[in-house]
Amino acid sequence: MTPRIVERLKEIVGAEYVLTSPEDLVRYGLDEIEERYRRMPDVVVKPHTPEEIAAIMHLANEERIPVTPRGAGTGLSGGAVPVFGGIVLSMERMNSILEIDCDNMMVTVEPGVVLADMMRAVEAHGLFYPVDVSTFESCYVGGNVAENAGGARAVKYGVTSDWVCGLEIVTPTGEIVCLGGKHIKDVTGYNLVKLLIGSEGTLGIITKITFRLTVKPTYVLDLLIPFDSLEVAVSQVLKLLREERDLSAIELMDSSSIRVAEQYLNLKLPYDDCEAHLLIQVDGMEEDVVWRSAERIYKRVTQAGAKETLVADNRVTKERIWRARRVIAEALKALYRHVSVEDIVVPRAEIPQAVRCIKKLAFQHCLEVCLYGHIGDGNLHPTLVCNDRDEFTWTHDLEAFLTDMFCIVRKLGGNLTAEHGIGLKRIKYLPLMLDKAEIALMQAIKKAWDPNGILNPGKIFG
Ligand code: LAC
Ligand code: ZN
Repeated sequence: MTPRIVERLKEIVGAEYVLTSPEDLVRYGLDEIEERYRRMPDVVVKPHTPEEIAAIMHLANEERIPVTPRGAGTGLSGGAVPVFGGIVLSMERMNSILEIDCDNMMVTVEPGVVLADMMRAVEAHGLFYPVDVSTFESCYVGGNVAENAGGARAVKYGVTSDWVCGLEIVTPTGEIVCLGGKHIKDVTGYNLVKLLIGSEGTLGIITKITFRLTVKPTYVLDLLIPFDSLEVAVSQVLKLLREERDLSAIELMDSSSIRVAEQYLNLKLPYDDCEAHLLIQVDGMEEDVVWRSAERIYKRVTQAGAKETLVADNRVTKERIWRARRVIAEALKALYRHVSVEDIVVPRAEIPQAVRCIKKLAFQHCLEVCLYGHIGDGNLHPTLVCNDRDEFTWTHDLEAFLTDMFCIVRKLGGNLTAEHGIGLKRIKYLPLMLDKAEIALMQAIKKAWDPNGILNPGKIFG
């Protein structure tokens, strides 16, 4: 990075949107991945238009400068960390909701819109964007698309990629391209919209997104169900999935997850001494249908040995229990010195086996693990925590555990990450899970899109 290049960046976006002082830069060197991954960018640029981004990419290609796009920095795999320094492209100024198209049931937004703001804006029109990411109050929709965020309601509504119809992107070589549009079906050539979603900022910079929307369910019940036995709690999940069609979420929280959430939020949940809680959401258009489903769930889990179920049908109780669930990862980070949030996924029929194996493995490795996550999707966040090891020992012990855990997950037919991405965090483990041929195909795509390797380099493949 030379003063001349900084000058050119200032000409493109305006001097006040180019940051170079160390105090400013340091805030853009990390996302929600562990501190040891922090890297300093040379410069932070805050563009306002796709044209400005295109000009930045042309310059970056000429000068061979790495460019790392950044949303709100809530990612958990290091996708926004500028591994090789260079330019961080912060999307914070591109934060307009451009259009709510009620007839087509679509919303078009810029990438820097906060997810909760978009959800609230469309709900004011009786429409519903259902992807319920834990950090919805702070994450940007652009980051959701780049990482293909999942969240709690995937049981019924799927993940981000199920809702994106159109994208405008700037390619790594500086072309502005529109992909897809406002139509629901489209097989016109390769599906580049899907390719971009979850590409972790390595194939393009997202500058506009069109999401399809659905009808807001008029009735939503949340059930917090405590169990004395984790094993029994887990055994209920498959049965519920096969019996109930109005389920929108089935979340698991084990006893340590509940404890940290309570401590962090300074609140108390009923039966917090139990080994596990299921948090279940049922939604629909008719109150009696939703209540009947809740009654059947209640009956089933009570027969299986659940303690008293808490049914939340008002905003205050709902918020209290969902807040506890959403805050777990953040709470663990605040309360432990070393924390590694994992994100495995297995076929749903293998959930009980996965839970058993992970518990046993942690015991064998003398590591403490908190188990929580989107169990209804087969997606768990085993989170390894520790206070009493030095950095070196912790990293060593963690890596040994993770290698074993991912081998088990692979044997069960699962995979490395369901919704957080490879980023920096899982580069080492990718070859454990994917065949050489598959990785080579992915790398060929990257090379074709980004011949100079300047867009978010050092991610996914290392
Ligand atoms: C959650 C994040 C860690 O589910 O994905 O809370
Ligand atoms: Zn999650």
